[in-house]
Amino acid sequence: MSIQTIGVIGAGQMGNGIAHVMALAGYDVLMTDISQEALDAALAGIDGNMARQVSRGKIAEADMTAAMKRIGTTLALSDLGASDLVIEAATERESVKQAIFEDLQPHLQPHTILTSNTSSISITRLASRTDRPERFMGFHFMNPVPVMQLVELIRGIATDEPTYTACREVVDRLGKTAASAEDFPGFIVNRILMPMINEAVYTLYEGVGNVQSIDQSMKLGANHPMGPLELADFIGLDTCLAIMNVLHDGLADTKYRPCPLLTKYVEAGWLGRKTQRGFYDYR
Ligand code: CAA
Repeated sequence: MSIQTIGVIGAGQMGNGIAHVMALAGYDVLMTDISQEALDAALAGIDGNMARQVSRGKIAEADMTAAMKRIGTTLALSDLGASDLVIEAATERESVKQAIFEDLQPHLQPHTILTSNTSSISITRLASRTDRPERFMGFHFMNPVPVMQLVELIRGIATDEPTYTACREVVDRLGKTAASAEDFPGFIVNRILMPMINEAVYTLYEGVGNVQSIDQSMKLGANHPMGPLELADFIGLDTCLAIMNVLHDGLADTKYRPCPLLTKYVEAGWLGRKTQRGFYDYR
């Protein structure tokens, strides 16, 4: 099946990154969120990120202009019904995602593929509550979307082959690399990355190192582009905690126990860059 129109649900850092790369690859994008402010901020963010790519010679100005024209926004979820492919990138809460799919479903065309950018929620379970489990998949981008090369593609138990192939072709057209992951908690990237971040928080909690020494050790000692605490702030501490809880609940092993300090930061509303405060202070 040929995909040309892509609906993106959620205009946050993942949603606007997805709209950005899809539009640059020539897809028509319709992005939705619950407030006009969120949509306006997303468009401004995409504009700024593309302008930076132009200034660094990564893309031509004409390509940016054409891509920006391909991105439409709407507050009406039902408008996404005409899409060939929908990528949900809303809040990482199962009840929220489920409610979105329920509201959207009556408006969809029969052939529309539904996907979720969830970083850890079961694709099989999300799919089972829709009218199209065979045309449902995990389509998981990494942050920042315009920069990161990988997309995890996760089949639910019922996902059919044409759906997988169609999504794979989209990833190819983006010039990104698809990693096929089975539907188990955290898939591949977060199954490995989050326990490392959680362990870094334990390292801080137990006083083995301070924020700076932990991050510097992993940057200079393991060649990571960002230290684990800086990366946690970048991803969002609430997201990190949510993923650790999914690993802990789903795999029932104490090695995935979220660090109490991570929980405390989230309870304090110190969620990282997005709230200006996390392991670092951005104010
Ligand atoms: N849009 C477009 N381009 C962007 C961008 C964005 N949002 N953010 C950064 N860039 C570009 C910059 O323009 C720059 O381009 P050039 O190479 O052409 O100069 C390049 O990325 C590097 O950016 P900076 O020079 O500003 O900064 P940096 O060298 O420190 O790199 C980084 C920034 C790419 C984010 C790097 O630190 C990095 O790779 N960090 C690790 C990111 C990571 O691990 N992401 C995965 C998180 S896990 C996840 O996403 C899954 C999940 O479910 C939680």
